[in-house]
Amino acid sequence: MSVETGFAVVGLGMGKHHCKAIDSAPNATLVAVCDVDEERLAAASHEFGCQTYKEIDDLLANDDVEVVNVATPSGSHTDIGLKVAAAGKHMIVEKPADITVARIDELIAAIDAAGVKAAGIFQSRLDPLNIEIRDAVQGGRLGRMIGVHGHLPWYRKQSYYEGAHGSWKGTWAMDGGGSLMNQGVHTVDLLQWIAGRVTSVMGMFGVFDHEIEAEDQSVAILRFESGALGTLYTTTCAFPGRDQRITMYGSEGSFVKREGALESWKLLGDEDGEQEQDMLGRFGDKKVEKGSGAADPMAVSFDGHTQIIMDMVEAVQQEREPMISLHSAKHAVEIINAIYESGRTGRAVEIAG
Ligand SMILES: NC(=O)c1ccc[n+]([C@@H]2O[C@H](COP(=O)([O-])OP(=O)(O)OC[C@H]3O[C@@H](n4cnc5c(N)ncnc54)[C@H](O)[C@@H]3O)[C@@H](O)[C@H]2O)c1
Repeated sequence: MSVETGFAVVGLGMGKHHCKAIDSAPNATLVAVCDVDEERLAAASHEFGCQTYKEIDDLLANDDVEVVNVATPSGSHTDIGLKVAAAGKHMIVEKPADITVARIDELIAAIDAAGVKAAGIFQSRLDPLNIEIRDAVQGGRLGRMIGVHGHLPWYRKQSYYEGAHGSWKGTWAMDGGGSLMNQGVHTVDLLQWIAGRVTSVMGMFGVFDHEIEAEDQSVAILRFESGALGTLYTTTCAFPGRDQRITMYGSEGSFVKREGALESWKLLGDEDGEQEQDMLGRFGDKKVEKGSGAADPMAVSFDGHTQIIMDMVEAVQQEREPMISLHSAKHAVEIINAIYESGRTGRAVEIAG
């Protein structure tokens, strides 16, 4: 087998970041791209010099393609993924893996039956600060977790929701929601990835400042399996778009994080502030370049995507599972849909373990 793994990208919005990430990943070759939009296809062909396909079925007949990156509208991920699995190819699926747990389960079953590999995309899990925070929380360094909070006051213009590539956004059928499912899913995933499973939620949501179907603002109360309580806020109405903020409070420590940077790190037993200085020295505002989608949907660094692609190359070559499984990418979607259900019914919604 060649040391190069052949990739294809389906969907050339966010998918263009995938193309760049594949280009920059060692042992990965961008063989082909696919999009139903001919203009986007021509632009990608010009930029990346790869083969182009308008039809996914034609792309899947290309034997040089071993891995397909699925970056089409969220509610189409399973439909495309089922075809990819049936063709015996591996896949990397953009967030959210799909918009319901039932559809993600359908995709996982097809992947298992075909014996192919699949990775989800939650690039925040690759951020060294988030890894360090998770190790500290799960290692008990913050004591018993009390409060787990995520705040995402972002801004999107109305035009973001319009046109050929905007009109699926903020719809129930293809986006599975709005500010919570599309933008907020990274924050929800981080909270549960760091602080553990969520067992029940109460939520409210609505449309406040856009002409869209689903929602552009949501608030929720979360109960974690650990016993901690949490709050979650998402919007795309907060002009001009402010930073994501994650705060967690434990019986022996707490931290405040703004976008990619740590603002505060306090631990009982760190009276001389040595550990705080170490953390702020490595992850404080001045040390970290903050990539933020607060106002710009495409301001996503492709470093995380590159790592996910490199991991898939290794997973294929070493015949192991990728680091972000679709199974692990599912709980965020489960939490979000429970919040929507709570908002619709006015009742707390339990999430079965
Ligand atoms: N990881 C991140 O931070 C991040 C950021 C932005 C978007 N995303 C995700 O990427 C996905 C795409 O979002 P986007 O903003 O790029 O949307 P987009 O509408 O700009 O791009 C989707 C592309 O898919 C193409 N397409 C649709 N159906 C197709 C089909 N059947 N075959 C081939 N091409 C098809 C469209 O023509 C379009 O060019 C979504 O799931 C979104 O949640 C992830």
